[in-house]
Amino acid sequence: MNALPQHVGIIMDGNGRWAARRQLGRVEGHRAGAEAVRRTIRAAREIGLSTLTLYAFSAQNWARPVAEVAHLMELLSTFLRDERDELALRGIRLVTIGDESRLAPPIRDLLDIVKRMTCGNRELTLCLALSYGGREAIVAAARALARAVAGGMDPDAIDAAMFEEMLDTCALPPLELIIRTSGELRLSNFLLWEAAYAELYFTEVPWPDFGRRELDAALAAFAQRRRRFGLTEEPAIRSPAARAGP
Ligand code: FPP
Repeated sequence: MNALPQHVGIIMDGNGRWAARRQLGRVEGHRAGAEAVRRTIRAAREIGLSTLTLYAFSAQNWARPVAEVAHLMELLSTFLRDERDELALRGIRLVTIGDESRLAPPIRDLLDIVKRMTCGNRELTLCLALSYGGREAIVAAARALARAVAGGMDPDAIDAAMFEEMLDTCALPPLELIIRTSGELRLSNFLLWEAAYAELYFTEVPWPDFGRRELDAALAAFAQRRRRFGLTEEPAIRSPAARAGP
């Protein structure tokens, strides 16, 4: 049995299909999705998770129709305005990853306020991935390292640990579980580097129907997984190559 994952990431998918099944517009699906966000944060806090990252808006989502992007941004603002006191009261710290420079200044200001209000909180870290792309994050890290090399750093000094320090997620615990709702079986540019040893959990449940029960089911599945990190399960005789290594 594994303990609780230190860091859970959720790809919140299926708002549009949830709405279509009810003959509602996509806007209604996203509104119901925002309710699921609130429920899931509350559940994560009750369960005692340390870090929860929600894929709220991808770098690619900017290409959606203007009205849909505006609605998603409006839901984000409403969420931040409505929930800031609750987050502060319940010991939840807000952080973000992604290219915030693309967000409208009023949303950036709101994010700054809520982050500052909650920065001392320790019960749960809520990380919102906003204007986020895993490839974009890797490219930004590569660019930062290239600059350091241009400034004289030895390229051979670059290793995985140094690369990781260049990512927005460097201060978060290792990602151990990724949940994706609504039946699609892919990562869609979410935390690509961080997913290296994360367990993947897919559910048919569309995001607007997600809540405590579904989160518990994902955590129960995680508890049963055999995590090997490239090793064998038995204390096997190590290969000469491994023995020669550090
Ligand atoms: C995917 O559903 C979901 C999104 C693109 C964004 C997630 C947004 C929310 C849950 C709403 C508000 C967020 C916050 C933080 C308050 P989809 O539209 O791609 O669904 P589909 O694949 O069924 O069309």
